[in-house]
Amino acid sequence: MSSVMQNPEFGAQLEAYVLAHSDEEGALLAALSRDANVNLLRPRMLSGHLQGRILKMFCRMLRPQRVLEIGTYTGYATLCMAEGLDEGARIDTIEINDEMEDFMMKYIRQSPHRDKIRVHFGDALAIVPTLDETFDMVFIDADKRYYTDYFDMVFPRVRQGGLILADNTLWDGHVLENHPHDKQTLGILEFNERIKQDPRIEKVILPLRDGLTMMWKK
Ligand SMILES: C[S@@+](CC[C@H](N)C(=O)[O-])C[C@H]1O[C@@H](n2cnc3c(N)ncnc32)[C@H](O)[C@@H]1O
Repeated sequence: MSSVMQNPEFGAQLEAYVLAHSDEEGALLAALSRDANVNLLRPRMLSGHLQGRILKMFCRMLRPQRVLEIGTYTGYATLCMAEGLDEGARIDTIEINDEMEDFMMKYIRQSPHRDKIRVHFGDALAIVPTLDETFDMVFIDADKRYYTDYFDMVFPRVRQGGLILADNTLWDGHVLENHPHDKQTLGILEFNERIKQDPRIEKVILPLRDGLTMMWKK
């Protein structure tokens, strides 16, 4: 058993150390986070400092020209990925809840990377088929009940060698429950089993935060 599991406080200290020795998130994202924590009901849904830097790093390493995000929420992860994109590259992000528009646009407008971002409001399952794009990288982070549907929908739209990421695939540890009954947990379990069996992709779950699955299209 790791020291983190024996002592959760140790885990928190280690995370603080990791953040202190990684790039800062910057003033705009820190302000967004504070605003979300004060004014939104579920601020924990946003990616946050560590995962945000990792998403940016994926963009730096892979240099995708076209990125798709399913589930924008505050735009935190969108802004992080946009930071890592080359000039001329673009991220399409889809959010079903148009009540988030004022919040996210307040920050997107202030970002020097705003021109790389295209926000769509509506159900991703309806919008993605209307986007005439092939994506190099996709970040799935919306309704856990429909992860398999999102995956099936985006798969043919991802180029060979492209990367698909799916967030929250450990679902706060609920994946280990003996008799799960809530629909989100069942959705994640179904997704994880399907992904494991899918020979068209190489896959690994990063035990980062709430679980981030990386899938590379062969
Ligand atoms: C976990 S949050 C996204 C967080 C964001 N990706 C980040 O990392 O900062 C999930 C978002 O997905 C949105 N959502 C849920 N179902 C959706 C759908 N079918 N299409 C688009 N967005 C959806 C929710 O309204 C919510 O804002």
